[in-house]
Amino acid sequence: MDSIVASRFSVIKPSPSMAAKARVDALRASGKSIIDFTLGEPDFDTPPHIVQAGIKALQLGQTRYTSSMGTPSLRAAIIQKLKNENGLTFTPNEVVVGVGAKHIIFTALMASLEPGDEVIIPAPYWVSYPDMVSINGGTPVIVYCPAASGFKLTPAQLEAAVTDKTRWLILNTPGNPTGAVYSADELSALGEVLRRHERVWLMSDEIYEHFVYGAARHVAPLAMAPYLSGRALVINGLSKAYAMTGWRLGYGAGPESLIKAINLVITQSTTCASAVSQFAGIEALTGPQACVEDVARAYQQRRDCIVSLLNAIPGIECLCPDGAFYVFPSVAGLLGKRAATGETLHSDIDVMNDMLDHGVALIDGTSYGMAGHLRISFATSTDMIEEGCARIGQAVRALS
Ligand SMILES: Cc1ncc(COP(=O)(O)O)c(C=O)c1O
Repeated sequence: MDSIVASRFSVIKPSPSMAAKARVDALRASGKSIIDFTLGEPDFDTPPHIVQAGIKALQLGQTRYTSSMGTPSLRAAIIQKLKNENGLTFTPNEVVVGVGAKHIIFTALMASLEPGDEVIIPAPYWVSYPDMVSINGGTPVIVYCPAASGFKLTPAQLEAAVTDKTRWLILNTPGNPTGAVYSADELSALGEVLRRHERVWLMSDEIYEHFVYGAARHVAPLAMAPYLSGRALVINGLSKAYAMTGWRLGYGAGPESLIKAINLVITQSTTCASAVSQFAGIEALTGPQACVEDVARAYQQRRDCIVSLLNAIPGIECLCPDGAFYVFPSVAGLLGKRAATGETLHSDIDVMNDMLDHGVALIDGTSYGMAGHLRISFATSTDMIEEGCARIGQAVRALS
């Protein structure tokens, strides 16, 4: 029979983090204790002053459609934020608000890709990038960036990947799933490559910018390559910094022609982001920022804790990430070993399943474009990190 599902959907994979969450929920429902290291969102609540702003918005009747671009006040707050924190200058017509950063990335790809256009995506990558490119008719070009180069794209790799069909480079700093943070010099060098290739646009996803640790600093890629301002889209949002994942609020800033096209898609699809969320978003961006700093400090402690616990387990090697709230350890040292079930661990997917049998949920690196690794989120309490790593240690000791 004729399928109702469009053929272009055949390229789309279900989100592995959603699949992992479903597994965790099912196991917990059956009474099993599971430590959940799959979370892609802060475990903190939205700070009270932001929640209050949302409540006030409802009481003041901010319950109607807004401008599809986002309210003028929120866009003004975003412009100020980009200026103060990132050294970037935009006008109101160069900023658009959407239902999360993901929505803006998707819409930008929809608005810009011609069939067959290539999009360079350094691997390991956030799982949604390749699928969002494919569903919008583009071709993801995956460039493998191993641990030896800090999971970061080098200028030589970028140069080699560009063709006359390349439309975008998607750069995610700090990155999911590795926590890699590009330095100012690394960004300048990548910018110089793009400078030579005028058809290629830069999409910088900076959603984890506030979570950088130790000496690492977040630098906006466009600030290091201002000559790309006519072909760069800055992506950011409030989900991670302000623990507002469920409010669904993100934004893009870039050339007016692209912003206008993104807005056109919004007018014909979502209409606008939630008015209440936008109101609360102004408070998030313009109100006290101590909440962000406190959370970043907590993540740094958790990072230090999880990295040392994991590296103490034979067969696991974990780089210390400079940002975000994930580690991406290699489990190559466990491959070929036999689990208590009698099955041999051939891949990171087998390791993930074995860990689940020992009560720890995490996600295989294969889903993020790099086999032999696991993605472990440390957006969870230190107690959970200690218990989860103890269970990983037990699982590894049970191997033969
Ligand atoms: C790299 C990256 N970009 C974007 C997003 C989506 O953020 P939002 O909640 O604003 O859609 C995520 C969420 O996991 C992410 O990891």
